[in-house]
Amino acid sequence: MTPSSAPPQPQSVSTSVTRSAFFIVATVNDDDASHATVRAWCADVANLTRAVGKRVPAGNLSCVVGFASEAWNRLFGAPRPAELHPFREFGSGERVAVATPGDLLVHIRADQTDLCFELATQLMTRLEGAVTTVDEVHGFRNFDMRAIIGFVDGTENPVGDEAAHFTVIGDADPGFAGGSYVLVQKYLHDMKSWNALPVEAQEHIIGRTKLQDIELGDAVKPGWSHSSLTTLEDADGDEIKILRDNMPFGQPGKGEFGTYFIGYARSPQPIEQMLENMFVGLPPGNYDRLLDFSRAVTGGLFFVPSEPLLKALAGREPPAAQSIATPAVAPTVAPAAATSADGSLAIGSLKGAPRYE
Ligand code: HEM
Repeated sequence: MTPSSAPPQPQSVSTSVTRSAFFIVATVNDDDASHATVRAWCADVANLTRAVGKRVPAGNLSCVVGFASEAWNRLFGAPRPAELHPFREFGSGERVAVATPGDLLVHIRADQTDLCFELATQLMTRLEGAVTTVDEVHGFRNFDMRAIIGFVDGTENPVGDEAAHFTVIGDADPGFAGGSYVLVQKYLHDMKSWNALPVEAQEHIIGRTKLQDIELGDAVKPGWSHSSLTTLEDADGDEIKILRDNMPFGQPGKGEFGTYFIGYARSPQPIEQMLENMFVGLPPGNYDRLLDFSRAVTGGLFFVPSEPLLKALAGREPPAAQSIATPAVAPTVAPAAATSADGSLAIGSLKGAPRYE
C-alpha cells in the first residue's frame, strides 16, 4: 500500500446512532480446535450480518468484532497491531478502572432488539464450544440519547470524515490500516445518591446543562467536570477526539442501572489518557466526580481489524510455539482495590468530598 492510498474498508465502527446494542465479551478456550473455530468464524461475520440485516433493511444492523492482546497471539500470531496491549488499569483505592477477562468483543447495533438478538444468536451458535461468554449487556436508547443519569450522551462525538479521521488507522501501522482500537467498560451507577443531588450540581459534574445539553461556560465549568477531563488537545491545540456509542442498560427490579461505555479510536492512547484524567485526576486528585456515583466493573481493550483483514484472519495460523513479544503494561493498582468487600458501590468518599457546585 502506498502511504497516501485509502485504507481498506473498516468494519462498521462509525454508524448512525441506533436504538439498540448488544455487547458480548468472551474468552477463547485454550485448545487448537477452539482457536480454529474462532479463526473460521472470522470469515463468517460479515456474511451473517448481511443475511440477518436483509430481513429488515431499514433496521441498520451492524456488527464490529475485536480481539484482545493475548488472544491475538494465540489465534493469529505475528504480525501484531502495533499498539495492541493488555488493558491498563488506572486509579487506586475506591476509584479504579479495572481490567477484566475477555479475548473477543462483539458489538452489535440495530434499531430493533430482535435484529441484535438474531445476529447474536447466529454468531454465538457458530462459536459454541470454542468460547466462554464472560459478559453480555443488552443496551437500549433512552429517550433523546440520554444516559441513565439523565444527560444526553454522545453530543460531542465526531461525525462523517472527522469520525473516520479519529478512528481509522492509516499509515501509522500500514499492515493494520483500516483497523481501530476499542475500549469498553461496564459502569454501574448509584442512582439514589445521584438523584439526591441538585440538578445544578449534576450539571457541574458533567460540564453541560441537563435539559438543553449545552456546554457550561469556562467561568462555571469546574476543572473536575467530566467534560473538562475528557477533552484532549494535541501540541498544536487541536482537539483529539474519540468515537463513543455508550448505551444505558439495567434491571430496575434488581436496582441495577448502568452505562456501557464503548470508545473507538485509531490508537488506544487518547482513550487511556482520558481514563487517567478521570480516575487519577489532572493534576492527580482532581478526578472526575462522576466516579463518586459510578463504578467500573469491567474493562477491556481490543483491536478491530479492517473488514478485509477480518476475513483474511480465517486463513492465518500462528506457527507452533511461536513466541511473540507483547508490550508489557504493568497495572497501576491492585485490581482488588476496585470493589469494596460488600460489593457495594464504594462511594463512601462522598463524605467530606468536594461540593459539586
Ligand atoms: C460512567 C460512564 C460515563 C457516562 C455516563 C458518560 C456520560 C457523558 C456525557 C453525558 C457526556 C456529555 C455529552 C457528550 O458530549 O457526549 C460525555 C462526554 C464525553 N465523555 Fe463520557 N461518560 C462516561 C464515561 C466516559 C469514559 C470512560 C470516557 C473516556 C475514557 C468518556 C469520554 C467522554 C468524552 C471524550 C466526552 C466529550 C467531551 C467533550 O468534548 O466535551 N466518557 N460523557
